[in-house]
Amino acid sequence: MPREADPLSQLSLEELRRRTSMKWRTYPEDVLPLWVAEMDVPLAEPVVRAIGEAVALGDTGYPAGTAYAEALAGFARERWGWDGPAAERTAIVPDVMLGIVEMLKLVSGPGDPVVVNSPVYPPFYQFVGNMGRPVVEAPLGVDGRIDFAVLESAFREVAEQADQPVYLLCSPHNPTGTVHTADELTRVARLARTYGVRVVADEIHAPIVAAGASFVPYLSVPGGESGLSVMSASKAWNLAGLKAALAIAGPDAADDLARLPEEVGHGPSHVGVIAHTAALREGGDWLDAVLSGLDENRRLLAELLAEHLPAVRYAPAQATYLAWLDCRELGLGDDPAAVFLERGRVALSSGTDFGTGGAGFVRLNLATSPELITEAVRRMAAALRAAS
Ligand SMILES: Cc1ncc(COP(=O)(O)O)c(C=O)c1O
Repeated sequence: MPREADPLSQLSLEELRRRTSMKWRTYPEDVLPLWVAEMDVPLAEPVVRAIGEAVALGDTGYPAGTAYAEALAGFARERWGWDGPAAERTAIVPDVMLGIVEMLKLVSGPGDPVVVNSPVYPPFYQFVGNMGRPVVEAPLGVDGRIDFAVLESAFREVAEQADQPVYLLCSPHNPTGTVHTADELTRVARLARTYGVRVVADEIHAPIVAAGASFVPYLSVPGGESGLSVMSASKAWNLAGLKAALAIAGPDAADDLARLPEEVGHGPSHVGVIAHTAALREGGDWLDAVLSGLDENRRLLAELLAEHLPAVRYAPAQATYLAWLDCRELGLGDDPAAVFLERGRVALSSGTDFGTGGAGFVRLNLATSPELITEAVRRMAAALRAAS
């Protein structure tokens, strides 16, 4: 792809450092940040236009209507061949994590356990724990896929403990980028039914798949009808600061979603809803350019690691813009990210924050330019030399 067509290659380091968001302001200026899931891209033109029009019109009040749900339905039909997110079974929520909190409140009570597949997005532990629900880990297999024997034993355990256990599925999975297949999701649904476990799916990374991979919505598989999902345009179009997301109920969970307190819908930003709607409706070409750039960045990272850090094990992911790097052979202990930060001045996410299976790993954010990925690996290699 020509450089000018790649949204990931448009912004200089100098421009990015003017940003005031978490990625760019958590660490001092000499640290190169490739950690939290923000993207180093200019926004898609249709999104910029929609926000500009809203601001020009003073259309900055409270959110209303079903435009977001309809835009997601169009996107889902086109990309995943799925007619699922019928507007009457959706609700706008402030963001994905708060949406998950609300879904958990609908189908469980305090003390009811929530099963997760570690290693997993760290806020799963924090948000679920803060709701007074114990987290029960069902670690992924070494191949990064769901280990069904482990999942079944976790389901059996939580079903014995509580009346309303929940499985919080991350699909595609952060940090491994695993895309669960239709067969795997069907098995999940079958097991969940057997043990009386409700499934809440976090599908925020759904639009971000690598060439050749296909995302399957959990609610679309046989048995997924009783599931609840939360989706958003925030990850794929870099709109996390424009708060909005959509909760979606399968046909058999419509009554649950109908109990969502009305005030939850006051939380999302109206301008956020406008931006997300424009992204889903008109941001497909921009997304495709990002996806091509990410395919190239995954290849580049594999080459750079093979050359400069051959002991790091990296399997390019099928989804997300995250790279999950097995650094256990580097001899840097459980938290190599701390060494890379201190000695290499490059900020990656610490694997230890992702729960069981994360020790010795780091997560690197690939949603940046090839130059910054190259510089990050150079810094990691320098850190390793300095540490040995
Ligand atoms: C799996 C997953 N869920 C949720 C979120 C956060 O989404 P939101 O900002 O909409 O709460 C992220 C952010 O990276 C994520 O990776």
